[in-house]
Amino acid sequence: MDRIRLVGGNQLNGEIAISGAKNAALPLMISSLLTDEPLVLHNVPRLADVKQLERILENHGVDIAVHGRRRGEDEGVGQRMTFHAADIVDTTAPYDLVSKMRASFWVIGPLLARCHEARVSLPGGCAIGTRPVDLFLFGLQALGAEIDIDEGYVVARAPKGGLVGATVAFSKVSVGATHTILMAATLAKGKTVIENAAQEPEITNVAECLVAMGAKISGIGTRTLTIEGVERLHGATVEVIPDRIETGTFAMAAAMTGGDVLLKGARPEHLQAALDILARTGTELIAEADGLRVRRNGKGIQAVDVETDPFPGFPTDLQAQFMALMTMSNGTSQIRETIFENRYMHVAELVRFGADISVNGQVATITGKPQLKGAQVMATDLRASVSLVIAGLAAKGETVVNRIYHLDRGFERLEDKLSRCGAEIERLAG
Ligand code: UD1
Repeated sequence: MDRIRLVGGNQLNGEIAISGAKNAALPLMISSLLTDEPLVLHNVPRLADVKQLERILENHGVDIAVHGRRRGEDEGVGQRMTFHAADIVDTTAPYDLVSKMRASFWVIGPLLARCHEARVSLPGGCAIGTRPVDLFLFGLQALGAEIDIDEGYVVARAPKGGLVGATVAFSKVSVGATHTILMAATLAKGKTVIENAAQEPEITNVAECLVAMGAKISGIGTRTLTIEGVERLHGATVEVIPDRIETGTFAMAAAMTGGDVLLKGARPEHLQAALDILARTGTELIAEADGLRVRRNGKGIQAVDVETDPFPGFPTDLQAQFMALMTMSNGTSQIRETIFENRYMHVAELVRFGADISVNGQVATITGKPQLKGAQVMATDLRASVSLVIAGLAAKGETVVNRIYHLDRGFERLEDKLSRCGAEIERLAG
């Protein structure tokens, strides 16, 4: 298995192009199942999770094409891809494909809407809590689906004539359940109202894609989505939004090492809560025409408390990275993780750098130290892995991050982007 070796201590200076958002690209790709016409996506990131979803979609019968670079385009520009589900040949999403990535479970929505049946393995993905699917099943049942669990599969059947619009009032905000019910409702008969919907920018990206495909959706970007079902959807061309988690990750890396980095293409409004917190740590953040500039103000890292929340709150996907930053603050800070019950696996690894962190239930208390020391560490989940890279960039001496396949699931060309800004970082082939 590949490892990353880095030697800490260098400031980050230069430009980093932000890639397309993984969490938008995946549901956008899944939306292609809703129509027999081609869906063209621009700015799809080159990630292991995208490849994995391609395999799943191909198994359902989707033809996938990756288009070549065009004159004048940067070499690092996201992929242009076409997804064409002319004929869905199989409505089963098997265990060996779905178990690797939780988001692949979301195919259940479009399959059920278009084919009136779906058999989808219960999901896998990062081991960050139990991550049940009760909200998905609740929503699909509200639209009239009959659901059975059979040998680890969710078997869903629409009523005769297809799904029927209804009010779906979620008891808890779920990104995946919102995507799934939103997609399913576009082809249901009549009106669906999703209450307590997730408001993440990735939901908006998908909702706007569905509208471009002919769906009727109002309330986009709010807690209540209203969908008027249509007979059929058609093809469209849609751009994947820039990755706000990658943006926040590099912003925190720059805050940790010092220096001056322009995050090209970043959309500050997609991570305002995180940027507000970063500003309080003593990081300068300047919105520029082509992105977001991040600079340390030279007075050290101030300790700031954080609580994770659904959008527009501070994202759980930046919690581990922020904790890495706080390990070198000049005070004591507390992080409260409210979204996932088991998302502190990076704590034991950060402690290997000499960090002072204790966890009590949902709350982690971090007492900053003037200096971390490089260490051998192990990547445990996608976002946790990159927190170890951030810590390593600022630690004295050598760090080796083992088991980095998690990083390749969600970060495009991480070592390349960081080394171009002066980091001493390389991949060691396993
Ligand atoms: C998505 C993101 C992930 C992010 C998370 C929260 C993608 C591909 N992944 O994951 O990066 O960390 O949102 O912002 O976009 N829950 C239930 N029952 C359900 C569904 C969810 O109890 O049926 C719970 C989960 O266990 C969790 C909380 O709801 O505690 C939020 O999860 P959810 O928003 O569904 O996360 P994902 O969509 O899996």
